[in-house]
Amino acid sequence: MHVTHLSLADFRSYARAEVALGPGVTAFVGPNGQGKTNLVEAVGYLATLGSHRVSSDAPMVRMGAERAVVRAAVVQGDRQQLVELELNPGKANRARINRSSQVRPRDVLGILRTVLFAPEDLALVKGDPGERRRFLDELITARAPRMAGVRSDYDRVLKQRNSLLRTAALARRHGSRGGSGGDAALSTLDVWDQHLARTGAELLAQRFDLISVLQPLADKAYEQLAPGGGPVLLEYRGSAGEDLTAAGSREELYERLMAALADARKQEIERGVTLVGPHRDDLVLKLGRLPAKGYASHGESWSYALALRLASYDLLRAEGAEPVLVLDDVFAELDARRRERLAELVAPGEQVLVTAAVEEDVPEVLAGVRYAVAEGEVRRV
Ligand SMILES: Nc1ncnc2c1ncn2[C@@H]1O[C@H](COP(=O)(O)OP(=O)(O)OP(=O)(O)O)[C@@H](O)[C@H]1O
Ligand SMILES: [Mg+2]
Repeated sequence: MHVTHLSLADFRSYARAEVALGPGVTAFVGPNGQGKTNLVEAVGYLATLGSHRVSSDAPMVRMGAERAVVRAAVVQGDRQQLVELELNPGKANRARINRSSQVRPRDVLGILRTVLFAPEDLALVKGDPGERRRFLDELITARAPRMAGVRSDYDRVLKQRNSLLRTAALARRHGSRGGSGGDAALSTLDVWDQHLARTGAELLAQRFDLISVLQPLADKAYEQLAPGGGPVLLEYRGSAGEDLTAAGSREELYERLMAALADARKQEIERGVTLVGPHRDDLVLKLGRLPAKGYASHGESWSYALALRLASYDLLRAEGAEPVLVLDDVFAELDARRRERLAELVAPGEQVLVTAAVEEDVPEVLAGVRYAVAEGEVRRV
């Protein structure tokens, strides 16, 4: 698939921007802070409903404006669709497909799919477990857009359960076991355990399936980027400490989660927070026999992050429409050899969007259309 037109209103530094795009490589080149990343961030937002730079929507609305609008025309095969998102920080976002009446934002998922490479990806390897969970869950949603609903159900149940636990913890601390909220909270907890285990098991099943198909692709990609440096091993680590990868069916996962919640119940009531479930798990990235986090060199960590993105690309391409590749400022971070390797691997992509501060940072195999980005203007050169 590819984007043929990108349109922004009050998004980041842009009051307005209209950018014509086509298949093949398009590079946005210009000095620091001129709005290159802002453009590709908008493309990524349409695909994931999130930004690779910030976790809330507010920074994406132009300073002083009330809302931002991002719109793109997306071509897949002989079908063209227009997707539009309106970002209203503090209020519900709105979405439209083909200018028709409103749909839920999550209904646009799947129309545009992207794989985005950025300097922030280093956090996939070096950062907190939350970074890796987000990586897994975003890819899960790209594979199966309906999982966006499961993710939001899980988050909602978790919030509700945490608030019950907080109430119970407070009641306990104040010694009022009977009477007020404490006991009531405890008695409804069982129901919430079931909700949490049901949505959690669905999320876990998807994560395990993803890891099993991603594993060989990540290993292959790492070998292409850094020959002889692997092998790469992806290991899921459940919050109860055990290796959950062995668990099979959804039903088994449900039972395991229920059992883990029962085991943790006492401690959860003391701490007032949910201690087991997919929101506490990690994906341990191993290089050879050691975890990459804490052991891998800077260059190895970079190669690992790139390998995970390349593997995502291979997977999405193999399973359906080819995603748009976005490379935000990555070539400047790489040595000459990996730069060439990465460029060769992405060059055949149906659509490749690249940003770079200077022309020399765009590898030669990525010759294509150039835009100069400066002072809020995006100009074809
Ligand atoms: N919500 C916003 N409102 C107004 N301006 C913003 C907003 N968010 C970001 N900016 C501005 O956008 C600019 C950053 O744009 P962007 O990150 O796209 O730069 P870039 O061209 O990618 O630079 P670099 O080469 O350093 O990566 C900054 O000057 C920042 O102040
Ligand atoms: Mg940038």
